[in-house]
Amino acid sequence: MKNLMLTLMLSLTLVGCGDKKDTPGKGVIGDVNAGKLLAERDCKGCHGMDGGGAAPGIPHLAAQRAPYLLASIGEYKEGKRTHAALKDMTGHMTEAEVRNVVAYYASLPPVPNAPAKDVQQSSPYQEGKSLAEACAKCHGEDGNSKTPGTPSLAGQQPHYLVTAIEEYHQGDRKATAMNPMARGSNKMDLEKLAWYYASQIPAQRSAPPFGDPVVGEPATAMCGGCHGAHGVSTDGATPTLAGQDATYLVNSMKAYKKGRQNWGMQRYIAGLGDKDIENIAAYYSIQKSLPAGSVPSSVKELADKCDRCHDATNNPSMVVPRMSGQDRDYLVMSLRAYRDGKRQSSMMHNMSFAYSNAMIESIASWYASRPADKN
Ligand code: HEC
Ligand code: HEC
Ligand code: HEC
Ligand code: HEC
Repeated sequence: MKNLMLTLMLSLTLVGCGDKKDTPGKGVIGDVNAGKLLAERDCKGCHGMDGGGAAPGIPHLAAQRAPYLLASIGEYKEGKRTHAALKDMTGHMTEAEVRNVVAYYASLPPVPNAPAKDVQQSSPYQEGKSLAEACAKCHGEDGNSKTPGTPSLAGQQPHYLVTAIEEYHQGDRKATAMNPMARGSNKMDLEKLAWYYASQIPAQRSAPPFGDPVVGEPATAMCGGCHGAHGVSTDGATPTLAGQDATYLVNSMKAYKKGRQNWGMQRYIAGLGDKDIENIAAYYSIQKSLPAGSVPSSVKELADKCDRCHDATNNPSMVVPRMSGQDRDYLVMSLRAYRDGKRQSSMMHNMSFAYSNAMIESIASWYASRPADKN
């Protein structure tokens, strides 16, 4: 954070009072003509003379904001961003050379891109919702099951949901109803389904015809450490039990005794008798649950959050890259790098850590296909 502030202040000093874009020939940042010669010698092969990435995954530099370009070259120099070729090349560039080449690329008009037509509408949420139509007859319209033995999916933790379906798929979990359903789904579709269900509101259930919730409560003392207070899980890989169908809870606890594989769960369930299991199920099923997360219902809504920082008109003083018209594959790669902690930026990590690959792909397509001359 300290470093970020420092970079920010330095870059502001460099831009000085004129925060206008460089005009060819007499840049505030550096000498555009000298920068052009340098680009011709060292950068052309990958970034082109027009500032367009030569292959998918190489960022466009044309019309990128100068303070951001300066900051990012600084990060390669210091090894904060890792890329062998760039570290070597920028490593022996003088401060003046860096400013000149930045002045050159920042002065170029944006690389023309092809606006996609369907991107505006498509969102992981909408796609998840239409995929979920195949599940509704058993799991309920919005994932609130009304069939004893069939679990609710509304509000469930998304990572757990993906794992559960993969387990049916691989045959680690067996259920005649589910095994055929799980086949043929790819990981991206599973994530969309999972996020759709995670953001549905779980219904409040009334007491089941078996078990005593009052007796069940103290027996759950050991469960809360993983499953959360009152069974509302806050951990992506651990299922929420609150509001779950009671018959399904009984079946699944018994399944761990018989062979559903999970060392942790088997240990906790081993000592429970049938009556304990029914009481615990009755207790959890009547607890109030919450959605595990929320997914913006359109890519536009998601992009609005990003634009709070990335749109320079909202934030003239922040050193942020312009994303409109950027190479799609490069955007995907950088978002994954932030999420997975491979590229450091506390601001971006906080934004991206909750995103699935499906969301990253959608938001990257959105920005890549936006008019390149927008912010
Ligand atoms: C061998 C190909 C190659 C060459 C040559 C090259 N680059 Fe790059 N450049 C890349 C790739 C790939 C990335 C993305 C790396 C990453 O993910 O961090 C990149 C990223 C950048 C970035 C960060 C852009 C952003 O949006 O964060 C800047 C700035 C940059 N290069 C400037 C230059 C300059 C200036 C030169 C010439 C002195 C140069 N590059 C030469 C391949 C190259
Ligand atoms: C024919 C009815 C049926 C259909 C259709 C169906 N399911 Fe299921 N599903 C079940 C039953 C029954 C179970 C409980 C099986 C068990 O006891 O392991 C289940 C279990 C699950 C579980 C495990 C939940 C947990 O808490 O562990 C997930 C996740 C799931 N289904 C997702 C889906 C999705 C996604 C679809 C649509 C693509 C779908 N199901 C379609 C009947 C169905
Ligand atoms: C060490 C952490 C941990 C503890 C303690 C724990 N669980 Fe679990 N539980 C899990 C995880 C992780 C899963 C998912 C495992 C899997 O994928 O099969 C799970 C799964 C379950 C399921 C299946 C839910 C579903 O939707 O299919 C039930 C029911 C359950 N636990 C009940 C309990 C009860 C009751 C206790 C206390 C007696 C308990 N658990 C204690 C971690 C824990
Ligand atoms: C709180 C402010 C903030 C928000 C909100 C934000 N970003 Fe960023 N973003 C930044 C900063 C600062 C950087 C530059 C960090 C660095 O130098 O690595 C950045 C860098 C990036 C980059 C790297 C681009 C490049 O050229 O290398 C991408 C991609 C990105 N953000 C995407 C997004 C998306 C998508 C969202 C919305 C989901 C978002 N950002 C929301 C502040 C923000």
